[in-house]
Amino acid sequence: MRYREGLKPVLQGLDLSLRAGEKVGLVGRTGAGKSSILVCLYRIVELSAGRITIDGRDIAHVPLRVLRARLSIIPQDPVLFTGSLRHNLDPFDERSDAQLRTALERCALALASALTLTLTRILALTLTLTLTKP
Ligand SMILES: Nc1ncnc2c1ncn2[C@@H]1O[C@H](COP(=O)(O)OP(=O)(O)OP(=O)(O)O)[C@@H](O)[C@H]1O
Ligand SMILES: [Mg+2]
Repeated sequence: MRYREGLKPVLQGLDLSLRAGEKVGLVGRTGAGKSSILVCLYRIVELSAGRITIDGRDIAHVPLRVLRARLSIIPQDPVLFTGSLRHNLDPFDERSDAQLRTALERCALALASALTLTLTRILALTLTLTLTKP
């Protein structure tokens, strides 16, 4: 893969197969090409040679919307976009509230969000009481 015509390839002769469910660590010095592998998986830059297959399908022939919807990244730094927690979890409004609640429970975040809500309410009440004290 090269980032632009005329530039040197940044990934060359990379050949690996990963089994379903396998956990793999990518290690390499800065500039080694770790992020470039993700760039290729998401087809942000198309390969200049070679191919990537997932479940036997060459991703070059998978529609971009389908490919990108099927891949997930958990970034190193947590990011929340402006908006509700619901919008952050389900930006395209494809899931029911019950499904989102189950997902939150499965990653033990439901309790955290309930706690945050309670703490926010206590804080709001304390502020109201303080401000309305004669
Ligand atoms: N947008 C880009 N345009 C041109 N070259 C790029 C671009 N992004 C990365 N490169 C080059 O591709 C090579 C691999 O970089 P890459 O970012 O994949 O490395 P990395 O292993 O993720 O490094 P790091 O540990 O610093 O994140 C480097 O030589 C880098 O300069
Ligand atoms: Mg990187």
